[in-house]
Amino acid sequence: MTHAISQRAEKLLSAPPMPEYIRANMERADNIWNAASNPDGYIPLCVAENKLVWDLLEPRMNECRDLEPYSIGYNSMVGAMPFREVLADFMGRTFIGRPVPPDQLAVLNGAGSVLELIFYVLCDVGDGVLVPTPSYAGFWMDLETRDEVTIVPVHCQSEDDFRLTTQGLDAALAAADRPIKALLYTNPSNPLGRVYSAAEVAEVLSWARDNEIHVVLDEIYALSIFGDVEFTSGAKLHQDMGEWLHIVWAFSKDFGMSGLRAGVLFSENERVLRAVDGLAMWASTSGDTQSLLRQLLADEGWVDKYIDENRRRLGQAYRRTIAVLDEYGIGYYASDAAFFLVIDVRPLMEEITWEAEERLWRHMLDDLNINITPGSACHNGEPGFMRLVFTSAPTEAVVAGVERLGRYARSLT
Ligand SMILES: Cc1ncc(COP(=O)(O)O)c(C=O)c1O
Repeated sequence: MTHAISQRAEKLLSAPPMPEYIRANMERADNIWNAASNPDGYIPLCVAENKLVWDLLEPRMNECRDLEPYSIGYNSMVGAMPFREVLADFMGRTFIGRPVPPDQLAVLNGAGSVLELIFYVLCDVGDGVLVPTPSYAGFWMDLETRDEVTIVPVHCQSEDDFRLTTQGLDAALAAADRPIKALLYTNPSNPLGRVYSAAEVAEVLSWARDNEIHVVLDEIYALSIFGDVEFTSGAKLHQDMGEWLHIVWAFSKDFGMSGLRAGVLFSENERVLRAVDGLAMWASTSGDTQSLLRQLLADEGWVDKYIDENRRRLGQAYRRTIAVLDEYGIGYYASDAAFFLVIDVRPLMEEITWEAEERLWRHMLDDLNINITPGSACHNGEPGFMRLVFTSAPTEAVVAGVERLGRYARSLT
């Protein structure tokens, strides 16, 4: 007797949503580079994780293990109020730049879940969402897998320095073959690692408001800025976010806690919040994690020092990475935030095609034992631009990995 599973599950099994570069990364986890014991080992330069701050986090997190009574029973599925109150203070004080009402926050298990639920709420099956590219690869998993929303890319061009323009947005909206319900915009951007100025953000937000579509503004890297451009939250530009502007943040990046699974939606739209609440049962953050994070955030002195030190370390890792790229003449787009930058690998490709980019990525993986996020995974409009992550391994490992790439580039000249 055969016990069938659903067609939707069969579809999932035949086309797993996880990008190939992440699968390849997981497969190599037990052969990691070590200068002394495994100098030819695998060097991950592809997953947006911050491994530079564990020594800061570990002692302080271990002090936050006092169990709090609210944390072990059923509670609000979008976060217990004692946690949301401290979280709202923290967000308002650090990156939002104005008071945040705790009842306008919904805490879920990671930004990925926040995105999945908010797009479930904003869109019907088959609706379109504009996403500028180069983009974070995971948006396709988050929006297309269960929500069955279709991402309509807005391809930014290398010759325009990958700038997003309202002309580009207009063109994508006009050409879309389906109703466009929202724009998903990331600041600081992934993969460019770029902080958009207040004027740039304001222009994009006004465009969306004029076109009467929602904006989901992903500010997950808001506190990981090491350059000079000041970050301005969309919630500061629009003190009244109304029904159309929604902010996403998480502990995964700025606090290097991607495994704790704690993300936040900040919205003033009362119907959106109520609908998210209705679905949160299946995406809650554990009470234990909420309690830990509440205790951590309540220590403002520690938080402020941590943010400064994280920024310093990110800047240091970035500068060491670009020094190696410069030494070997590998082109890149300068970054001022987050954990990565976009490198121009076209000179390393036999021709400017997606097939040649794929061959280069395979060569990096199989022969150089490094993994750099391919441009195809970032849904780029043109081949030859990959995302290099400089924080997912200690900086010596990153330097060794970029040197492998540099030596390969030199061997071609
Ligand atoms: C821009 C962006 N949004 C969302 C996520 C997902 O974060 P989480 O691990 O909290 O689900 C990531 C992770 O890389 C990201 O870069």
